[in-house]
Amino acid sequence: MDTQLEIARRRTFGIISHPDAGKTTLTEKLLLFGGAIQEAGAVKSNKIKKGATSDFMEIERQRGISVSTSVLAFNYKSKKINILDTPGHKDFAEDTFRTLTAVDSVIVVIDVAKGVEEQTEKLVAVCRLRKIPMIVFINKLDREGKDAFDLMDEVEQKLGLKVTPLSFPIGMGYDFKGIYNIWEKNVNLFTSDSKKNIEDTIAIDDLNSTELDQLVGKSASDKLREELELIQEVYPAFDRESYLLGEQQPVLFGSALNNFGVRELLDCFLDIAPPPTPKETEQRIILPEEPKMTGFVFKIHANMDPKHRDRLAFIKIVSGTFERNKSYLHTRLQKSFKFSSPNAFFAEKKEIVDVSFAGDIVGLHDTGNFKIGDTLTEGENLKFKGIPSFSPEHFRYVNNADPLKSKQLEKGIDQLMDEGVAQLFTLDLNGRKVIGTVGALQYEVIQYRLEHEYGAKCSYENFPAYKACWIETSDPREEQYLDFKRVKQKFLAKDKSCKEVFLADSEFSIQMAAQKYPNVKLHFTSEF
Ligand code: G4P
Repeated sequence: MDTQLEIARRRTFGIISHPDAGKTTLTEKLLLFGGAIQEAGAVKSNKIKKGATSDFMEIERQRGISVSTSVLAFNYKSKKINILDTPGHKDFAEDTFRTLTAVDSVIVVIDVAKGVEEQTEKLVAVCRLRKIPMIVFINKLDREGKDAFDLMDEVEQKLGLKVTPLSFPIGMGYDFKGIYNIWEKNVNLFTSDSKKNIEDTIAIDDLNSTELDQLVGKSASDKLREELELIQEVYPAFDRESYLLGEQQPVLFGSALNNFGVRELLDCFLDIAPPPTPKETEQRIILPEEPKMTGFVFKIHANMDPKHRDRLAFIKIVSGTFERNKSYLHTRLQKSFKFSSPNAFFAEKKEIVDVSFAGDIVGLHDTGNFKIGDTLTEGENLKFKGIPSFSPEHFRYVNNADPLKSKQLEKGIDQLMDEGVAQLFTLDLNGRKVIGTVGALQYEVIQYRLEHEYGAKCSYENFPAYKACWIETSDPREEQYLDFKRVKQKFLAKDKSCKEVFLADSEFSIQMAAQKYPNVKLHFTSEF
């Protein structure tokens, strides 16, 4: 097996969207193309359904299926495609942010009627920051929606992207006739049929020929010609280099439900999306083609069986090959580990494999040795960068509700925090523990899991914080810094890696602190 060829044919990406834009439907259609599944309905939606009897039951349901949908892999046109699942629900946004550290590119799905929504804005902001190459897919063209040009304006303005269309819709909703593929210079006529697998496309060499008029009607074809002219004037031509640098984002249109425009999306993706990309460690940049294995943990999933408290740690392989039963260095613990049953993922199944390649994800059984961000190597001391914690938006004191079980509580909290369910802060003043989360749902999850998996009980008390700000100072003996610490004493805490954090109670107090102590830098993420 040629390792370099194997690495070069991997395409590892994530699909991000606001809930309901069509991420699950699109994922499923992509798998259908890959022949990885035979029928629709095989990919379970991991979203929390609206109006469910209890949000909490939904979380359990979601945990159950999210192992199986964490990575969906398939082969298509000699490429190995790994789709990493990203929860759309905002209470799980942090999970999605972390998954974005393991992708090499992203497809952003937008609902043609709703346009850019809140969750899309947040997720795209993270991708933009990391310069991840993005393709935008405008979905649900079979429905009445916004004008395509207006929508592209909205994408540019709200998401801060620089777009260029690679396809363009002919009509929309009731009048939807099909799509002109600017990339391949052909027309794909719309028929509403969700089971259709391969679309018939008609090559159009000359846009001014009468062929187009006959296909879609004179008025629709005239309109298309005008629109394409406008596109040429207004938008820059597609430039792959700019796309790869995260400076230009191609846009395609379609309807995932009707399996329309999906093949074009997939083919375009294969043409332009990057193979495994280099990644920075604190020591040096790692290239995927390096012979030695390096990888990092971006997600930890607790086992669903509470009696066996083992977990699955998801590793993104950054370079080389990961082999079964080979010894790897866990650089944080400075200990070597062998893995007798590394899981690889194929379609919606996981199976034990002997060798995986850079770009792939392996799932390793773990009994509590891994934390998010841990690095594995063949001996070199490295630490991958870029898996920051983000400021939580909810804060509560956590109290022990069963004094006989304090050890269990401590262990439970410790492990749940390693999994990245929430963040723990210890107040400097009195050592009390505060749990910070992105969404209120996580408090229920933590309470339930502490009880069922660790036999511990906890209660919560409100803690009046608004945001966690990680503190940076150039000199810990500096006057402003010391003054800041004295005045804000009540609001200072340490995070899990003992970094100093200011738990600000309002935007106002953050602004005031920034004004009064300009030498003390406040950050909303733990890496700066
Ligand atoms: P998500 O994972 O992004 O949350 O979205 P999902 O794929 O679950 O799609 C959300 C809803 O939008 C689903 O309908 C789905 O059938 C519909 N949908 C997806 N793509 C298209 C499209 O191209 N055209 C139209 N008209 N609808 C589309 P639902 O009624 O919420 O769920 P279901 O009962 O159909 O599963």
